[in-house]
Formats: sequence, C-alpha cells, structure tokens
Amino acid sequence: MDTAGQVLATPVGDGLRERRQVVHFPPFKPTRGVGEFVCWQTVDVSVPLRLPRLEDTHLVLRAFVDGDAHLIQDVSTDPFIPLITSVPDVPDIESAHAFIHRQQARLDDHAGYSFAIADPASNEALGQIGLWLPNLMQGRVSIGYWVAARHRGRGIARHALASISTWGLGLPGVHRLELYVEPWNQASWRTAERVGYQREGLLRSWQTVGEERRDMYMYSLLPRDRP
Ligand SMILES: CC(C)(COP(=O)(O)OP(=O)(O)OC[C@H]1O[C@@H](n2cnc3c(N)ncnc32)[C@H](O)[C@@H]1OP(=O)(O)O)[C@@H](O)C(=O)NCCC(=O)NCCS
Repeated sequence: MDTAGQVLATPVGDGLRERRQVVHFPPFKPTRGVGEFVCWQTVDVSVPLRLPRLEDTHLVLRAFVDGDAHLIQDVSTDPFIPLITSVPDVPDIESAHAFIHRQQARLDDHAGYSFAIADPASNEALGQIGLWLPNLMQGRVSIGYWVAARHRGRGIARHALASISTWGLGLPGVHRLELYVEPWNQASWRTAERVGYQREGLLRSWQTVGEERRDMYMYSLLPRDRP
C-alpha cells in the first residue's frame, strides 16, 4: 500500500513508468465526510532502463566493469571523493569490486545512470559521472561527478558533463538538470559554468558532508540554456 505523495515506480517494457498518489488538503469533496480526498494521478515518465554508451572524440561514458577496480582503489585515498560518494575509503580490491557492482545495479534499483568516464583510445576509466532519478516525477534529475586526481585539469569533467547533460535533457520527462556544489569547490562550479549551468543561489546548511553541515550552490541547466 502506498502513501500520500509517494512515488511508485514500475518497470514497463524497457522503460520506467511512475505514478504518484496525491492527497489534497482541504478536501475537494466535503460531502465525503472525511478530512481528505485521494486522487490518483498516473504520469507516463518512461526512461530507458538500459545504460547507453555515450561517446565523442574526447571521451566515452560507459558502464563500469571489473577491470576499473584499480581506479576505485586509486581514488579511495582521495581526501574528498569517499566523503561525497559511496567510493570506499579503503583501497582493497574487494571493496573496489563491491563499488563497481553497486554501480552496475543502480539502474535496476531505479536510482539512476552511473557511468565510468573513459579514455576513448585506451578505454581506461578516469572518473565517474551519474545522472540520478529520485525527483524524476517532478521533471528534475541531478548529476554528480569526479575525476581521479592524476587525470584532472584536462577538460575531462567538462566534456563528461556536457555529454551527459545533452543526453539527459533528451530523456522523456526531464525538464531540469541540477548540480549541488560547495562554494569552495571552484573546480566543480567552473566545470558547471563552462557547460552552461546557471547558479541560482546558496542552499544554506543543505547537507552533511563528513561530520559537518555544508552550504551548497544550486546550479541548474534547462533546455533553453543550451545554444
Ligand atoms: C571537480 C572535478 C571533477 C573537475 O575535474 P577536471 O577534469 O579537472 O575539470 P576540467 O579539467 O574539465 O576543468 C573544468 C573547469 O574547471 C577549472 N578547474 C579545474 N580544476 C580547477 C581548480 N583546482 N581550481 C580552479 N579551477 C579549476 C578549469 O580551469 C575549467 O575551467 P575553464 O575551462 O574555465 O578554465 C575534479 O576536480 C574532481 O574530481 N574533484 C573532486 C570531486 C568533486 O569535487 N566532484 C564534484 C562535486 S560537486
């Protein structure tokens, strides 16, 4: 049994269809004699339940494979990435494989699309970028990314974000892409701005990172922001 406002997600064909139950206050039908009126709203939001391969001349976004474990072991010692992601903070191979298997299950879990960012020539994984679906019913999805320290400063995040954003805005029912970035993280908000994301404001004490509440800049990209 679902509850008010809860989103139900049911796989339909090769897509994901969702519906929500909306409880209105005050009641639209006072003659019912109850304090609420329940109405079902079925919204067809069908996104593909297969991870695509997105490629251009600069890089490839593809599924994680076990062979990417060395990248995960590498970034497990990064001072920031394990704090903001589920990347393990221990560099052992079992934890790295467990992370990769979680990414491979993200779409089955309807959490979102988790891509490895890879070099188009060597197929070496350089980082991760994900498009996450919890607010798909409201037409909003969020994006998160990281690049291993030794691969930074070469435009990898910029190209990966541009690629996933173009694809993401083409998904049915997606009207807005969102990014949450800490004010100190200039590398990340410059990446966002280079791709055309607009800063909308500061979300104060928005989330806990490590053991602290942190402010976040809210960035968004709408279809009309693209050239
Ligand atoms: C943020 C991050 C993904 C950027 O990756 P990257 O591949 O090095 O970024 P790019 O090379 O594509 O650079 C994109 C823009 O950021 C700028 N930039 C990159 N590193 C920077 C730094 N350390 N300080 C200031 N600006 C920086 C670049 O100059 C570029 O802007 P420009 O084109 O206007 O010059 C990377 O630093 C990272 O993984 N950080 C840790 C995880 C993280 O913070 N993720 C984002 C959470 S919101």
